[in-house]
Order: sequence, then structure tokens, then C-alpha cells
Amino acid sequence: MVEVLVTGGAGFIGSNFVRYALGAHPDWRVTTLDKLTYAGRRENLLDVITHPRHAFVHGDIADAAVSGPLVERAELVVHFAAETHVDRSILAAGDFIRTDVEGTFVLLEAARRAARLRRFVQISTDEVYGSVTSGASRETDELKPRNPYAASKAGADRLAYSYWATYSLPVVITRASNNYGPYQFPEKVIPLFVTNAIDDIPVPLYGDGRHTRDWLHVNDHCQAIDLLIEKATDGEVYNIGGGNEVMNVDLTKRILSSLGKPASLVNPVPDRPGHDRRYCLDTSKLRTLGWMPQVPFEGGLRETIDWYRHNEWWWRPVKEADPAFRSYYQAQYERRT
Ligand code: NAD
Ligand code: DAU
Repeated sequence: MVEVLVTGGAGFIGSNFVRYALGAHPDWRVTTLDKLTYAGRRENLLDVITHPRHAFVHGDIADAAVSGPLVERAELVVHFAAETHVDRSILAAGDFIRTDVEGTFVLLEAARRAARLRRFVQISTDEVYGSVTSGASRETDELKPRNPYAASKAGADRLAYSYWATYSLPVVITRASNNYGPYQFPEKVIPLFVTNAIDDIPVPLYGDGRHTRDWLHVNDHCQAIDLLIEKATDGEVYNIGGGNEVMNVDLTKRILSSLGKPASLVNPVPDRPGHDRRYCLDTSKLRTLGWMPQVPFEGGLRETIDWYRHNEWWWRPVKEADPAFRSYYQAQYERRT
């Protein structure tokens, strides 16, 4: 059996990856290590929590006593755990430094003692490139992160790289674009707008709404990571993008029309400070290894909207009964609206 450690496996992408990995690799034994922050939920793993080849460990990656032994016995580490929401990093950045930078450092130190380690996948992000005025970011481009989340991820990205360059650790770094799909916490734009719209609550569109993001279905992301585990070259960075560049205002219109809701639900609000205008990835390096995104954006978005429509059990408790979510929503949106 291949021992696989997935950090942050109770979050959005992590839980989709755990499910994908258990299905795609009958010879993998997967351990999920997750702190269960506001964004990590056991509900995300409900269907696989008792799977015979899956173990769940509740713990902090930055706690070496917990994460160290798990890393040391792993053959593959896929490191998703992070604080991930840009708006929260603007409100308070401390947890981002603690988890994204220090937590990654703790894992990398343990990885140096992992005798059987074959791959340490550092899940980075396209945000490390900063706002892209024209063309598409290549892996060799300068990093210009512009918000505390992006800067903490850039720190972790380069720290992981340094452990390859210095200690020959088998590190691979991925930089993906905006993911969408089931189980995404309803603070991110797609699940927030879909769930607000279902309840006829206005959707807060930042600034002029003409910022663009390149959307990647989470299943395509999982397949890319899987491919890179086998085919990547140690010490290399790989962009993963869906090739679906969409302006926020157009994304919002599509969500509303798909739900049969009026355009009057759009509520233009003051912009996010330091809001990156555009991300766009050149994915030719990954494509030469044989990866192509499989999910067309139109259909993927429709299915994703349907998933939130049919799984109110999953998001209503967060939006309606979680006082922490309510106070975040107030802090983030009340002065804007
Ligand atoms: P998420 O916020 O949904 O999940 C993060 C998970 O990490 C949660 O389960 C949380 O409990 C866990 N976690 C946080 N701090 C932890 C700690 N100290 N110890 C253990 N677990 C901890 O995030 P996501 O959207 O699934 O993102 C996963 C990874 O992918 C992150 O590294 C993120 O930077 C990266 N990424 C995300 C996107 C995207 O569009 N969502 C795009 C590119 C890269
Ligand atoms: O690009 C990859 C990144 O994508 C990941 O690294 C991050 O973890 C992930 O959160 C995401 O960051 P974004 O800031 O792009 O995602 P978010 O869903 O917060 O916002 C997407 C766009 O929608 C962005 O231009 C801001 C806008 N937006 C967002 C929210 C939450 C709004 O207009 N209104 C909102 O209320």
C-alpha cells in the first residue's frame, strides 16, 4: 500500500481530492490531517470518512508532534492545508502567516526525515504572480503577490522550493487558478452568490465587476495533481488553469440567469483593497505531460449550481446558524452595503 498524507483534506479541494484518490488508486491508503477550521468540515468527507483505506486525524500542521510522525511515514504528501480566503487575510493576516508559512515549514522539516518520501506536492496558487495585465503567467515569471494571502502562499511556495534546492527533497509546486465545484465554503464568490441568490439576497459584486478569473473545475484540478505525482520533475513548478477566463460581472449574470433570478439582485459594492484585476495562466508545461481540462465551464457551472440547490443541508447550517460566519459576513459586507 502507498501511504498518502493529505493535509487540509476536509476543505474544498482537499475533500474532492481525497474522494478522487480513493476511487482512482485502490493501492493508496490516505490519511487526512485537518485542523477543522471554519472552512474544514467533516461533512465534506461524509461519504469517505469510514472508508477502509482512509483515516482522519484532527490536528494542526504547525503542531510538529502531530504532523511530524504522519509526514515521516508517508510516501506521498499532498499539502493543501492553508488559510485561503483573500478577504479574511485583509481583515486579519496572522493565521495566514501561522498556517501557510509556518505550518508549511513544520511539514517540510518533517519531510527531511521521511525515509520513503517520493513526492511532496506543495499546493500553491496563481495569486503568487499578482495581477496580470496582458498575456499569461508562466512558471518562470517573477512573483508579485499583492495581498496577505497571496504573500503567505508565495512564502510557502518558495520555502518548499528551497527544500528541494538545499536538501534535494522531492518537492513539486503547483499553481492553480480559481477552482469551482461542490463543497466550496460559501464565502467564495460562486457558492456565496449562488446561495444568496437562492434566498433572493443581493449579491455583493466588488468594484466595477470587470475583474477576471480563470475558472478550473475541481475534478480537473485533482486529475492534474494526480498526473504530477507520477510525471513531474522534482523542484519544478506547474501552472494548472482551466482556460476559462470570465469577468466577474458575466459570471454573476450567468449564475442569476441559471437560477431564474433577476439582474436586480446584483449589488455593486466598494472594491476589495488591492483587488487583483486579472489572473491568467499559461498551462503549456502541464499540457506537455498529457493533461487537458475535461469539464467545459458552461456545464461545470450549471452542475455546480445544481449541487448547491440540491444540498441545502450542507450550506444552510453555515449561513444561517453559525455565529462565526454571521460575524464574518457582517464585518466583510455590512459597511459595504
Ligand atoms: P479551504 O479553505 O476550503 O480548505 C482549507 C483546509 O485546510 C480546511 O479544511 C482547513 O480546516 C484546513 N486547515 C487550515 N489550517 C490548517 C492547519 N493549521 N492545520 C491543518 N489543517 C488546516 O481551501 P481550498 O480552497 O480547498 O484550498 C486548498 C489549497 O489550494 C490551499 O492551499 C489554497 O491556497 C490552494 N488553492 C486554492 C484555490 C481555490 O480556488 N480554492 C486555487 C489555487 C490554489
Ligand atoms: O486564484 C486562485 C485563488 O482563488 C485561490 O488561491 C484562493 O484561495 C481562492 O480564494 C480564490 O481567490 P479569489 O480572491 O480570486 O476568490 P474569491 O472567490 O474570493 O473572489 C473571486 C472574484 O470575485 C474576485 O475577483 C473577487 C470577486 N468577489 C468575491 C467575493 C467573495 C466579489 O465581487 N464579491 C464577493 O463577495
